[in-house]
Amino acid sequence: MTIQEEIEDLRRVLEQHNYNYYVLNQPTISDYDFDQMMNKLQDLETFYPQYADPNSPTQRVGSDLNQSFKTVPHKYPMLSLANTYNEGDVREFYERVRQGLEGEDFDICCEMKYDGLSISLTYVDGALVQAVTRGDGVQGDDVTANVRTIKSIPLRLREGSGYPHEFEIRGEILMPWTSFEALNEERERKEEPLFANPRNAASGTLKSQKSELVASRKLDAYLYYLLGDEIPADGYHYENLQMAQQWGFKISQGMRKCKSVEEILEYIDYWDKERKNLPVATDGIVLKVNSLRQQRHLGYTAKSPRWAIAYKFKAERACTRLNEVTYQVGRTGAVTPVANMNPVQLAGTQVKRASLHNADIINELDLHIGDMVYVEKGGEIIPKVVGVDKTQRTPDMRKVEFIKTCPECGAPLVRYEGEAAHYCPNDTACPPQIKGRIEHFISRKAMNIDSLGPETVDDFYQRGLIKDVADLYKLTVVDVSDNNKNRAVSATKAVNAIRASVNVPFERVVYAIGIRFVGETTAKLLARHFKTMDALASATVADLLEVDGVGEIIAESIVGYFHEDKNLDIINRLRDAGVQMSLSAEALEGQTDILAGQSIVISGVFAKHSRDEYKALIEKNGGKNVGSISKKTSFVLAGENMGPAKLEKAEKLGVRIVNEEEFLEMIGIS
Ligand code: IVH
Repeated sequence: MTIQEEIEDLRRVLEQHNYNYYVLNQPTISDYDFDQMMNKLQDLETFYPQYADPNSPTQRVGSDLNQSFKTVPHKYPMLSLANTYNEGDVREFYERVRQGLEGEDFDICCEMKYDGLSISLTYVDGALVQAVTRGDGVQGDDVTANVRTIKSIPLRLREGSGYPHEFEIRGEILMPWTSFEALNEERERKEEPLFANPRNAASGTLKSQKSELVASRKLDAYLYYLLGDEIPADGYHYENLQMAQQWGFKISQGMRKCKSVEEILEYIDYWDKERKNLPVATDGIVLKVNSLRQQRHLGYTAKSPRWAIAYKFKAERACTRLNEVTYQVGRTGAVTPVANMNPVQLAGTQVKRASLHNADIINELDLHIGDMVYVEKGGEIIPKVVGVDKTQRTPDMRKVEFIKTCPECGAPLVRYEGEAAHYCPNDTACPPQIKGRIEHFISRKAMNIDSLGPETVDDFYQRGLIKDVADLYKLTVVDVSDNNKNRAVSATKAVNAIRASVNVPFERVVYAIGIRFVGETTAKLLARHFKTMDALASATVADLLEVDGVGEIIAESIVGYFHEDKNLDIINRLRDAGVQMSLSAEALEGQTDILAGQSIVISGVFAKHSRDEYKALIEKNGGKNVGSISKKTSFVLAGENMGPAKLEKAEKLGVRIVNEEEFLEMIGIS
């Protein structure tokens, strides 16, 4: 045997043992023998670097090199699932599918809904080539180096198992309960902040810049969706995953094909209890139409497939004592009351804090310090206080009174008419507001300055280096490193990242400056409509109301923002720093008002452009792409195989159907 053959042989055998251990949970050799073999491979690879391979089992230990993640587009968008919470919703879903399939026989595949982080893995010729997080569904972070350290994800597929040349497989990365608990125990010992739940821990781990740390954290992965051009179009989901298991993947547990609603409900009932014995967190059941052909026939809404749905388990409840109410001040000055309670186990994690949202909720609950309160975990990570056991209240308990002054700066709080929240009005000098605005400015969907985080912002603020977002652009390496040579590298990185952000497109700048009520989508609409910051700044409420999706409250908030000298000063300083203050020539090119004020639904499959391209064309021409047909829909842009339900609805409401050619002609491209 040549050295190369010996190396390859060892890799194959070690990969098989990994599979036995991590996927099948059935090791066939001792840990000692495994380590011996791994050491041998490691030695050979060190002596013969010409045979290095990033997919070798030795690479699973990770490296401590710094990596910043590259953003990569998804070949197929990563959609989410519509949620349902009760039997009625499940029956409605089943009925919709039955009608959509016009009397055809169908199977629903039921499987666990994992509560982790979704991941998309690409394999070419049996080797893992890329792992990308969900991101915003259209593009995500390339976390391949970190994912390589997850032992249950095959780096190479099992030879001869019949995998396609190229495919993607999607699933969930999770931190098993046992690893999660051990990790938090260790963090507690080191007085480090604890992770709230395994999902946060997995996410924090996977986003770490050090794959060595990722390797030490023992993540796991379950795969639940196979896709790619080579996956036979007339195949079946359940059968695809069984094949994927043969190739080497760990797949959804307890998958079952159901033929009736009753069978589905039985499955849900069984797993609602049984899931507590699973090694990882689940938060529901996913129901999927099994036939891929039928899936295509049913199609998608703007956000999620019509052929699948998630049934979410009901939140678990715990009862514990309320010790204190503290208050947090956010970037807008909104003050959120937080319940501090005796620690209690809830849905697998320990809970000791819960949001109380606002003063009205405290009053409705009639909260008293010392009350025994019921806590639930809803869809959000932060638990909620949902009730009080008044039978356990004693007369000495004091009613919770909402504070009158800001806990951070002492300013008297105000409550605006019609709003539930209390605000600290001291926006120029209240520290969490100042830091919050800067954190918003640098956040991913805003200026995306990812080498800064809340701790750095806090540090810069404490050291008097920044008081507002425009100050960021004045920072020098000497300032940031505090003239400390050891910090020069990270300081240079931070300063470079800030400087590079001047190229972030105008629409994201409109979002980043943090005008109240102006979210990402509104910012985009405003940028497209007004084209420059100056035009936006001088717009009246009436001008703003002309923008689709902008109502009175938003319009007034925008006018109010530009009315304040301190905001205009920030804008001017950002402009001087080179930040984009108008739409780029590229974004302006081809922009028209032809479709202004029109709401357009896209349906079916198209020949000349993709759905995303049509969406972009609608927006470029001033129109709005909406998900479902209503009386307000201007027209449906329909391709081949428009869903029968949509067609019926359009006809019933008298909404016009426009085909591809007509549409292109309408906007002057043909
Ligand atoms: S299928 C097009 N199956 O739930 C449908 N998703 O809101 C692709 N998830 O983002 C998803 N377990 O991260 C599917 N067995 C399962 C799942 C699952 C968890 C997650 C996934 C997705 C979210 C849907």
